[in-house]
Amino acid sequence: MPAVVIVGAQWGDEGKGKATDLLAEHIDYVVKFNGGNNAGHTVVIGNEKYALHLLPSGILTPGVVPVISNGVVIDLAVLFQELDALNARGIDTSKLRVSANAHVITPYNVTVDKVSERFLGKRAIGTTGRGIGPTYADKINRVGIRVQDLFDESILRQKVEAALVAKNNLLTKVYNRAAIKVDETVKELLSYTERLKPMVADTALELHHAIEAGKTVLFEGGQATMLDVDHGTYPFVTSSNSTAGGASTGSGVGPGLFTTVIAIVKAYTTRVGSGPFPTELFDEDGEFLRRVGHEFGTTTGRPRRCGWYDAPIARYSARINGVTDFVLTKLDVLTGLKQIPVCVAYEVDGVRFDEMPVSQSDFHHAKPVYENFAGWDEDITGCKTFADLPKNAQDYVLAIERMSGARISAIGVGPARDAIIVRHDMLG
Ligand code: GDP
Ligand code: IMO
Ligand code: MG
Repeated sequence: MPAVVIVGAQWGDEGKGKATDLLAEHIDYVVKFNGGNNAGHTVVIGNEKYALHLLPSGILTPGVVPVISNGVVIDLAVLFQELDALNARGIDTSKLRVSANAHVITPYNVTVDKVSERFLGKRAIGTTGRGIGPTYADKINRVGIRVQDLFDESILRQKVEAALVAKNNLLTKVYNRAAIKVDETVKELLSYTERLKPMVADTALELHHAIEAGKTVLFEGGQATMLDVDHGTYPFVTSSNSTAGGASTGSGVGPGLFTTVIAIVKAYTTRVGSGPFPTELFDEDGEFLRRVGHEFGTTTGRPRRCGWYDAPIARYSARINGVTDFVLTKLDVLTGLKQIPVCVAYEVDGVRFDEMPVSQSDFHHAKPVYENFAGWDEDITGCKTFADLPKNAQDYVLAIERMSGARISAIGVGPARDAIIVRHDMLG
């Protein structure tokens, strides 16, 4: 029975939310396994538009059990705000399960995220300011607060005290800020316990039972391959493993149980925040992609940096994630362009690189080597099959499929739920 992973192949915002929604009717469980409310997934269902940050997008499908597993960092205020907002729109969220081992984003970690970014000045990472990095740092430093700690006040107080020793020294002596009070922090965290308690579970065990019982489980990655803390463009990354391996460590489901890895890849490339981006455009083509693709962040509203499709990045993602299928999104955004360049390799100081260079300095200096493809003018948003696409659009898809290391099994042709061409059954 399928245990399916969905990850982003580029720098995020590829349309993972929509892809999850496409598969959701076939699945029983949807698991968010990494990241927190730094993610932003927009899903359009009929005339309704949903923006999800912390909750997995699969929560929108009736009957699915949504799970927030151990690899996630949770801002509890945001969790309840999102649940309230969905409930007010008639979405049933009562089946949500939250791992007792997931870490909690404390108010002081949000403060540290914002202050440390400000002090980095022009070297800032451009984080979402949601406390993600400092919370994962606490986890690795073994001074994190876990969901289960909220149910033992004396343990919670000891842990907050321990975490604040270093934090308050940093805030007062390095960053010149006021110290954070233990009492206030503990009081705020305890205010969530009553509502949280019925959702808390041994999610690794529940998922194991679900898979044993033949249920279909979808693991929904936040962020993307190039933002992964190990495999992305470090240090301009997020602080979790957003590649497929993270689905295993982030959920407690062993690697041997996964059957399918789907990477979502945009027909061009975008990035939010700082860091290298070889195919980035600073001209009217970049403006075109931003305007037509509505490339403004779901979480922070920042304009996304835009550029052409980068085949070495897609190939790298196929490798790192063990991709079985790509879902190519936003092909419709390219409609109207006379020609469409695709990056097929890089050149660094006169040397050609066909694959991602291992040295970040090389990647920073990489100049794209382009191959040009002819564009199309026909509106493709109503296309239902591959054969419905104009010849040039078909050729573009087939060319990037050849370059990208796995089959393209579905093609997004518009934001709507049904604006998607399915070429292969990904769950079969
Ligand atoms: P995620 O973070 O990967 O879930 O992606 P986001 O939701 O941040 O950004 C993707 C955006 O593209 C959303 O606004 C989607 O509604 C939209 N979208 C997804 N697929 C398509 C597509 O095939 N065509 C168009 N035009 N928009 C799409
Ligand atoms: P989805 O799931 C795009 C980027 C931030 C910043 C870096 C680190 O919607 O694809 P963080 O707050 O995580 O410490 O910021 O990562 N980033 C994203 N960019 N989409 C996302 O999520 C992102 N989540 C984080 O812009 O550059
Ligand atoms: Mg997003």
